[in-house]
Amino acid sequence: MIEETASFIRAKVGETPEIAIILGSGLGNLADHMDVSCEIDYHDIPNFPVSTVEGHAGKLIFGKLGGKYVMAMKGRFHYYEGYGMKQVTFPVRVMQKLGVKTLFVSNAAGGMNKEFRVGDVMVITDHINLFPENPLRGKNYSELGTRFPAMTEAYKKYLVKYADEIAESCGLRLMHGVYVGTTGPTFETPAEYEYFRVIGGDAVGMSTVPEVIVANHAGIDVFGVSVITDLGGKDIDYVPTHEEVQQAAETAAPVMVKLITEMLKKL
Ligand code: HPA
Repeated sequence: MIEETASFIRAKVGETPEIAIILGSGLGNLADHMDVSCEIDYHDIPNFPVSTVEGHAGKLIFGKLGGKYVMAMKGRFHYYEGYGMKQVTFPVRVMQKLGVKTLFVSNAAGGMNKEFRVGDVMVITDHINLFPENPLRGKNYSELGTRFPAMTEAYKKYLVKYADEIAESCGLRLMHGVYVGTTGPTFETPAEYEYFRVIGGDAVGMSTVPEVIVANHAGIDVFGVSVITDLGGKDIDYVPTHEEVQQAAETAAPVMVKLITEMLKKL
């Protein structure tokens, strides 16, 4: 299936990029800044699941951003939608087959770190996997990666360093933190936000971790960013709506666009 999908894409776009970007909730407008050469609807891609969430458009976009040729996934597949882990991470396998070397992932997340504000951008320095399943469970195909992959630098330090340099020179407020990945679709109870903070999390969301695990297995370097769309904790009883999450993500869009574009220039 991976080979079939990769061949289909190769036939459509010709040259394939070494950089891929997964655009999360409300961050799809990064694609508006791309100099687009080809777009493919997920519906038209063999073996691709189809995204069901509102606000996740569902297409692969090829083009230039920050002077680099990239492929962007506008819309991703979430475990809470009912997909299996293999489906959620299938696009990353296709990226691997196409020769992608660096993956940028973005998402919307709820902040537990008390220094965070709504609209902050957080560079993901590490994650805690609280999904009930690991996408690598089952038979290991050694041509795809090793049985027991290390996760000690799941988010590459040199990419975090690039981001910090850009934040410094462009005057961006850039936070660092550990992303906790959960299934959703419920947002957390105040006690759960507090628990995630106590175990070492700075932000929590419903995506990213499965894709990052598979990218690491695949030998792809990962850079991750979260937009903090809401805050949760012991004394916070306000829970956002999906629309408010998207709204907050859009507010942070200029910082995201600047950061990612400058990162691409450095690669
Ligand atoms: N929790 C989980 N996922 C999220 C949140 C949250 O508070 N905000 C955006 N995605």
